Amino acid sequence: MKIIRSIKKLDQALLVLRQKGKRIGFVPTMGCLHEGHLSLVRYAQRENDVVVVSIFVNLTQFGPREDFKRYPRDLKQDQKFLKKAGVDYLFVPLRTSIYPKNFKNFIEPGPLARHLCGPKRPGHFRGVATVVHRLFKLVKPNVAYFGEKDYQQARIIAELVRRLRLPVKIRTCPIVREKDGLAMSSRNQYLSKKERICARAIYQSLKQAKKLIHSGERNILRIKRAIREILASCVDKIDYIEVANPKTCAPVKTIRNTALIAIACYVGSTRLIDNFLVKL
Ligand code: PAF
Repeated sequence: MKIIRSIKKLDQALLVLRQKGKRIGFVPTMGCLHEGHLSLVRYAQRENDVVVVSIFVNLTQFGPREDFKRYPRDLKQDQKFLKKAGVDYLFVPLRTSIYPKNFKNFIEPGPLARHLCGPKRPGHFRGVATVVHRLFKLVKPNVAYFGEKDYQQARIIAELVRRLRLPVKIRTCPIVREKDGLAMSSRNQYLSKKERICARAIYQSLKQAKKLIHSGERNILRIKRAIREILASCVDKIDYIEVANPKTCAPVKTIRNTALIAIACYVGSTRLIDNFLVKL
């Protein structure tokens, strides 16, 4: 695995591959890698000739009171992990490569950011859209891979690609879960033993909501109440429980065909998100 830090080196390496007609699969990450990231790498390897992974903890997607400083970073461990997985290139840009002096090209995330995490994390999706756009311009991948755990993020990026006519295909891949159902996330590391047990309730509440819907329940308030009842004794704060349109991420009044059930809550001081896409 080649580790690349400069844009010039990245251009040199990838230009040759592109000229040879190789397909480039790209997995952008913020590091602290886990099985969820690895599954994206595997999809990318199956569908492309070359795989590039980037690690960049992107300051602009963190709010002023969020965890940018304490966000887990372990480049050595990540390197080992990716090398073992057979990744071809690891791109670890400097902050100034992503945000050169006087950088102004911030990308607005569009109407999808008005819902779910958008209002709870002002500026977050603008930061995500900006860094992903910048990374796409640098890596110029054929396909980029995102996890369904960050469902809204993946939708925003797919919409951005469509709006700006970027020459990249977006692939959204299934959530990877721990044995007890907790969605894998770098932030799970923050959880104490007790909190980690409590966090199971998120998956359990989603399963219960799905069961209710499949048994004919269509009343959104009752579905949300069932989720809240399971979460109430386990989590410290509920940011939102939403039944949304999977295309727009906007809350729905009735369930038709497919519904996105999305949760954001705090276990201790750790904010966790999860979702189920329920098909009727
Ligand atoms: O999902 C993430 O890890 C980040 O939001 C991303 C897409 C790498 C942008 O910083």
